[in-house]
Order: sequence, then C-alpha cells, then structure tokens
Amino acid sequence: MFYGVSVMGTVNLRPHIAGLVRLWASVIAKMFGAMFAVMFGAISNATAQTDLADQITKADLGYGEYLAGECVTCHRNSGTGIPQINGIEAETFVIIMKAYRSKDLDNKVMQMMAGRLDDEQIISLAAYFSSLSN
Ligand code: HEC
Repeated sequence: MFYGVSVMGTVNLRPHIAGLVRLWASVIAKMFGAMFAVMFGAISNATAQTDLADQITKADLGYGEYLAGECVTCHRNSGTGIPQINGIEAETFVIIMKAYRSKDLDNKVMQMMAGRLDDEQIISLAAYFSSLSN
C-alpha cells in the first residue's frame, strides 16, 4: 500500500516537474529576452543620441541658412503670433521637426514643411537656427 502510493507519487510528479522546468525555462528566457531588449535599446538609443550630436557638429551651416530662407517668411523675430525659433537647442529642434514630420505634433503647416525635409536637411536647419541668438 505504502509502496503503491509512493510509485503513484513518483509517476504523477514527473510530468509536473518536467512542466515546471519548461515553465521556468521559458520564464527565465523571457526575462533575459526583456533584459537584453532593455539593455540593447538603451545602448542603441545612446548611440543614436551620440550620432545626432555628432551630425549636428558636422552639419553644414551654410546649407542650413539656405534652407532657412523659406522658414523665416513665417518665423520672424518680432511678435507675429508664430513662435520664434532662433536659438532653439539643436537636438530639441531635430526632435520637434521629426515630430511634425511624423505628424506626432499637430500643425498642418509645419507637418507639410517638415514632410518635405530629409534628416540631413533637418539637422542642417537645427545647426543653423541653434547658432542664432533668440
Ligand atoms: C507658413 C508659415 C510657416 C513656415 C513657412 C514655417 N513654419 Fe514653423 N511654425 C509655423 C507655425 C504656425 C508654428 C506653430 C505651430 C504649433 O503651434 O504647433 C510653427 C512651429 C515651428 C516650430 C516649433 C516652435 C516651438 O517653439 O514649438 C519649429 C521648430 C518650426 N516651426 C520650424 C520651422 C522650420 C525649420 C521651417 C522651415 C523649413 C518652418 N518652421 C517653416 C509656421 C511656419
């Protein structure tokens, strides 16, 4: 009787243990996956950040000034009701312009303006406008 119970116990327990081991393995795998995703995301984000700063430093101010021609018809210095954009910090400028381009920022005119610009042009404009005093 005692023997019978213990055999039953052993027999019944095995699939559960196997199942638990599989479950742990998948939980641990998921945890590592998530950790790697976070770590890698942080690394590639930091790299993107450094790249952007680097690209801004190397940007062609003359090209930025040239492209700015069509911006300053609206963005003048004095109070036109349109925000003044001289002196906006360059990386912030890039983030704002890309947000208009992706339509995350809501303004039809600026969505259209930014929609015509590629990354290099946005970076040149950021370098140029950030170099001006506000
Ligand atoms: C036809 C007028 C017009 C033109 C041309 C124009 N903008 Fe704008 N821009 C606006 C208006 C209006 C806003 C405010 C939008 C809002 O409230 O979101 C704005 C907002 C911005 C902002 C955000 C400013 C802030 O303080 O939030 C930036 C940066 C900007 N424009 C850059 C540019 C650049 C660069 C160009 C040229 C490629 C350009 N704009 C051309 C009208 C214009």
